[in-house]
Amino acid sequence: MSATCDVVVLLSGTGSNLQALIDSTRTGDSPVRIAAVISNRADAYGLQRARDAGIDTRSLDHKAFEGREAFDAALIERIDAFNPKLVVLAGFMRILSAGFVRHYQGRLLNIHPSLLPKYKGLHTHQRALEAGDTEHGCSVHFVTEELDGGPLVVQAVIPVELQDSPQSLAQRVHAQEHLIYPMAVRWFAEGRLSLSEQGALLDDTLLAASGHLIRT
Ligand code: GAR
Repeated sequence: MSATCDVVVLLSGTGSNLQALIDSTRTGDSPVRIAAVISNRADAYGLQRARDAGIDTRSLDHKAFEGREAFDAALIERIDAFNPKLVVLAGFMRILSAGFVRHYQGRLLNIHPSLLPKYKGLHTHQRALEAGDTEHGCSVHFVTEELDGGPLVVQAVIPVELQDSPQSLAQRVHAQEHLIYPMAVRWFAEGRLSLSEQGALLDDTLLAASGHLIRT
């Protein structure tokens, strides 16, 4: 597919995954165009990264709204003004309403710092260590109404080392996030990745429950 794929990125924090995505679009042959970055926090460093790259930004404070539905409706308005083909959650630390998720069904991706379905929610590195796991990693998935659920697209698996702390593990997982998220976004932009009723399809083939697995 040669057409450009406009993407809107949502984030709440540092935006290192946004940076990886920005860097991946600078290769010249990338079909991905980041049309805008939107945050629920005006002070998110990710917004600065976007501005530095000349990308449009918006911020929308969830505290200014009465309830999740009202905020999500306003967020949909902001996003759809950019008419994106894909919406990318990159550390967007909000639980999304069912209406929001349905609105973007099949064109909403998330990255999570664990080997889903393990360790949904927060403190994933700590929890993997406490459980004595020998492997840990990160997952890209299509978003459904289940928190940190939805068909998996790709997982990167790394070994847990004996001397690992939550911080050292987080650092190595983060490095993998920066590889697999741009890859998955590119697959989508190239028209190779889609969501079907059976699960995620890559090149018209149903992916395994774990998604495409990458081991280091
Ligand atoms: C990433 O580790 C991402 O996996 C996680 O937030 C971090 C954002 O980092 N997302 C979740 O936990 C979603 N449930 P970044 O701002 O440096 O990209």
